[in-house]
Amino acid sequence: MCQGLQQDIDLDVEFDVHLGIAHTRWATHGVPSPVNSHPQRSDKSNEFIVIHNGIITNYKDLRKFLESKGYEFESETDTETIAKLVKYMYDNRESDDINFATLVERVTQQLEGAFALVFKSVHYPGEAIKFFIDLLIAVVQEGKSHSCALPFFSVFSAGKDKKSCSALPRTDQDTCLFPVDEKAVEYYFASDASAVIEHTNRVIFLEDDDVAAVMDGRLSIHRIKRKTGDYPARAIQTLQMELQQIMKGNYSSFMQKEIFEQPESVVNTMRGRINFDNNTVTLGGLKDHIKEIQRCRRLILIACGTSYHAGVATRQVLEELTELPVMVELASDFLDRNTPVFRDDVCFFISQSGETADSLLALRYCKERGALTVGITNTVGSSISRETDCGVHINAGPEVGVASTKAYTSQFVALIMFALLMCDDRISMQPRRREIIQGLRVLPDLIKEVLSLDDEIQKLATELYQQKSVLIMGRGYHYATCLEGALKIKEITYMHSEGILAGELKHGPLALVDKLMPVIMIIMRDHTYTKCQNALQQVVARQGRPIVVCDKDDYETIKNSSRTIKVPHCVDCLQGILSVIPLQLLSFHLAVLRGYDVDCPRNLAKSVTVE
Ligand code: AGP
Repeated sequence: MCQGLQQDIDLDVEFDVHLGIAHTRWATHGVPSPVNSHPQRSDKSNEFIVIHNGIITNYKDLRKFLESKGYEFESETDTETIAKLVKYMYDNRESDDINFATLVERVTQQLEGAFALVFKSVHYPGEAIKFFIDLLIAVVQEGKSHSCALPFFSVFSAGKDKKSCSALPRTDQDTCLFPVDEKAVEYYFASDASAVIEHTNRVIFLEDDDVAAVMDGRLSIHRIKRKTGDYPARAIQTLQMELQQIMKGNYSSFMQKEIFEQPESVVNTMRGRINFDNNTVTLGGLKDHIKEIQRCRRLILIACGTSYHAGVATRQVLEELTELPVMVELASDFLDRNTPVFRDDVCFFISQSGETADSLLALRYCKERGALTVGITNTVGSSISRETDCGVHINAGPEVGVASTKAYTSQFVALIMFALLMCDDRISMQPRRREIIQGLRVLPDLIKEVLSLDDEIQKLATELYQQKSVLIMGRGYHYATCLEGALKIKEITYMHSEGILAGELKHGPLALVDKLMPVIMIIMRDHTYTKCQNALQQVVARQGRPIVVCDKDDYETIKNSSRTIKVPHCVDCLQGILSVIPLQLLSFHLAVLRGYDVDCPRNLAKSVTVE
């Protein structure tokens, strides 16, 4: 369990139906402590309990109202207001046969913010009610966890007519998914598929405003408000993820495993999409929209953290091959600025988890303004993958380590493939397309060659791990490498680290350089080579002793550098995939030497589902 997160488990044992809810919570309100842990309760006899992912922005007003009605609070959390509100609704119910889902629907209509909830109550034994989107339901039937009676759950609305009333759960044949005589043995509500994969690979992804209820082994799904175009059912999907894929294997951490998986993960990203013999690229997820995309006036890449760096890394080649203006935006700042967005914009949302709140809010902002939206995600069924008009799944496989590594290189490759697709009919660009496609063909072997430097990188880490700062400098295709390398180092070693555009050195950062400051420079033989050589001289002239990541055949640079990390040469716009790997390895070894949890760094979560 990551530091700063809380976990508590409540298990009902007085009924013959075993029903428990638990939650490892990102501590948004109140310090991590037993009283602030989940589930939160309505009162000391646990009449209602709730677990909650997200934040309630109007919780203070609700708390003030409930305290005025005599409800006493014990925690600092926003979630406790939900537990007490559902009790308030129950205490003031208009009739005794009100069902649990109706109570929950009434509560959720009072809440503002982002929330995924699961409720349980002594008044509704054997029932659990879940609400909202970034949760899924896993279904296990007696000995049949890999099959399900029908592929769809019908959805009921909260309307008044009999067909759509929300009585729970409907046991008549034509509406309850499972035949009346058949019950599912277990249901799991989870916010990520990897939490349930060991129990079943059959899951249902719910939509916004869905309310799901389980009673007596039967599941029903309801809508708070049914809108035209609402799809009247939820598909049961089979997760392709297998348990061993998310096991560490013989690596010391998921992050190490994921760094070394990159020769395979980039192949999986390209699989079925690039024909290296006839130099063609096919992205099935875009085929219905590619004509519209090719007519657009601007590309906007929107993301956070590492995913943002994937956008920075591919911006130049996207501009080159599409001949369009390309903006790369941090989702939070994009929203803060109320950035103008137009119907002829194409907006990309790059996200490993597909659940990052800032990116999701930016997606909705762009959709409201008529832009075409494209998802670049690694998580099937995630909110971003479902809410974008089209997209490319990067197929990197589950990424468990909080510090993103293989997802970055796969996002990078996916965006390169998009750029290649956009100019597949441009005669003048065919030589460049062929160069890049053939560069992708040899990429996996080049990645393996860089990974073979692991021992050398580990030795370098023993010389750096007690330092307070590391500066990483580069430009052109490698500015993103510097940003990403600095993020890796700061997020798992807690050392200060900064990615610096080498062209900016003279405008300030050079003041930081002296013989004691650790400096890493990325110098590759591309269009910025001479300028990078100039930057190297500036650093050396200030008694800097930079460690230079350079082309293994660049004897000039090797001769003039005190320490080099030599990587194989590849096509300029792909070189960033190779130059980032030494920095991934370095951050990993630094964190291990400093004794930190590589997979679960302090204060961070794998998916930031709160703003
Ligand atoms: C990267 O190592 C971090 N885990 C973080 O910056 C992450 O990239 C960011 O939160 C975006 O996550 P996403 O790709 O799932 O949207």
